[in-house]
Amino acid sequence: MGQKLLLDTVHIENIQTYEGYAKQGGYQAIAKVLKSMSPEEVLEEVKKSGLRGRGGAGFPTGMKWSFIAKPEGVPRYLLCNADESEPGTFKDRYLMEKNPHLLIEGMIVSSFALGCHTSYIYIRGEFMWILHILEKAIAEAYAKGWLGKNIKGSGYDLDLYVSPGAGAYICGEETALIESLEGKRGNPRIKPPFPAIKGLWQSPTVVNNVETLASVVPIINRGGEEYAKIGIGRSTGTKLISACGNVNKPGVYEIELGISVEEFLYSDEYCGGIKGGKRLKACVPGGSSVPILPHYLVTKTAAGEQRLMSYESLSDGGFATGSMLGSGGFIVFDEDQCVVRNTWNFTRFYHHESCGQCSPCREGTGWMEKVLHRIENGHGHMHDLDLLWDVQRKIEGNTICPLGDAAAWPVAAALRHFREEFEWHIKEPIKCLKGNYGLVNEPALAV
Ligand SMILES: Cc1cc2nc3c(=O)[nH]c(=O)nc-3n(C[C@H](O)[C@H](O)[C@H](O)COP(=O)(O)O)c2cc1C
Repeated sequence: MGQKLLLDTVHIENIQTYEGYAKQGGYQAIAKVLKSMSPEEVLEEVKKSGLRGRGGAGFPTGMKWSFIAKPEGVPRYLLCNADESEPGTFKDRYLMEKNPHLLIEGMIVSSFALGCHTSYIYIRGEFMWILHILEKAIAEAYAKGWLGKNIKGSGYDLDLYVSPGAGAYICGEETALIESLEGKRGNPRIKPPFPAIKGLWQSPTVVNNVETLASVVPIINRGGEEYAKIGIGRSTGTKLISACGNVNKPGVYEIELGISVEEFLYSDEYCGGIKGGKRLKACVPGGSSVPILPHYLVTKTAAGEQRLMSYESLSDGGFATGSMLGSGGFIVFDEDQCVVRNTWNFTRFYHHESCGQCSPCREGTGWMEKVLHRIENGHGHMHDLDLLWDVQRKIEGNTICPLGDAAAWPVAAALRHFREEFEWHIKEPIKCLKGNYGLVNEPALAV
């Protein structure tokens, strides 16, 4: 049984309340910080922990914090990114719903380290019931003196607000989030300047994911070095993974980084194997934006090494034979699933969610969706596959924000690993419509 640092208390009935959380040792991290640590010492612990951003890119959190500009007399802001709209990823909502005070405490500690006196949780508009849970918990924290003026007599002031978005995936991109929080349309900004220099209201700003900020609490309680002992290499600590698709036990799991994909997928502690005893066809290990892995690259790398649940191992082989840990949305496909249909479905999402600022993304996602739709519906041509490849290549790297890459990568990976299935759709459309995707009886499908 792996260690749990974030979900260890979620089964406790009243953990959502201040009393329940405090009884389990809650608010000890911020008490320790205010009593005996300087902002620089908190930053040092986070650096030592090796914590990497849990929002998808895996950027080292301590390093990101150290970039924040500190001009005299200018406020700084910490924004919690609770937009969580990536298909397949549903860990942050679980954490906020089950243990809101953990996020609040993480935000107080992090705001103190960054020298912020006003912080925001930007939450996806569809999570209205979680917004209410957070607001209730924030009110409790104010009432108990953990928020507001002169927190526990320390001289440190912090106000924390929750602000809902209006249901746009693009508003999870940090600069679009900032625009949206300022009351504007959520269009990503051109960088530089980066938010650490000019973010919210043109002031220095750090944007961090929910899980990242919650992880700061166990880091302070244990110490950065102890935290870094969990995990493997540069993938330290624990990670929340949301497992979905054709597994026996879909759900949100906290793993120690570095366990094998095989253990995560097949052991009863986690996914419990493929549903209905079927064979594994493919897996998207980090949310819809990351490359799909065919069954033979899920539990093993191309070099035959065991694939691990870590930033490095999941990306081993680059995009030719690897993928990414991403935001931890682990989507599993059994032998009956259609890769073409799934790729079309993801692309439809990205087309719908493109903000439209950049032509390659606005137009390219639309073209990819159209072409995939006609292949899926039996009207495709062989030259469509070259067209698809060409369009995705022209999107990648040519947009203001990474939504373009997120739309291009799944298409590229599906074509790279499942070209025969695309061809089969074009050659045998009627069989495909009946659920025969050409590869169903392939003996190498993993059991
Ligand atoms: C289109 C798009 C959507 C994103 N959505 C989210 C999101 O819902 N939550 C999140 O934490 N990061 C999201 N990100 C990443 C953020 O831009 C940013 O990197 C992240 O919040 C930084 O936090 P971290 O360093 O703690 O990971 C998204 C990025 C893009 C390009």
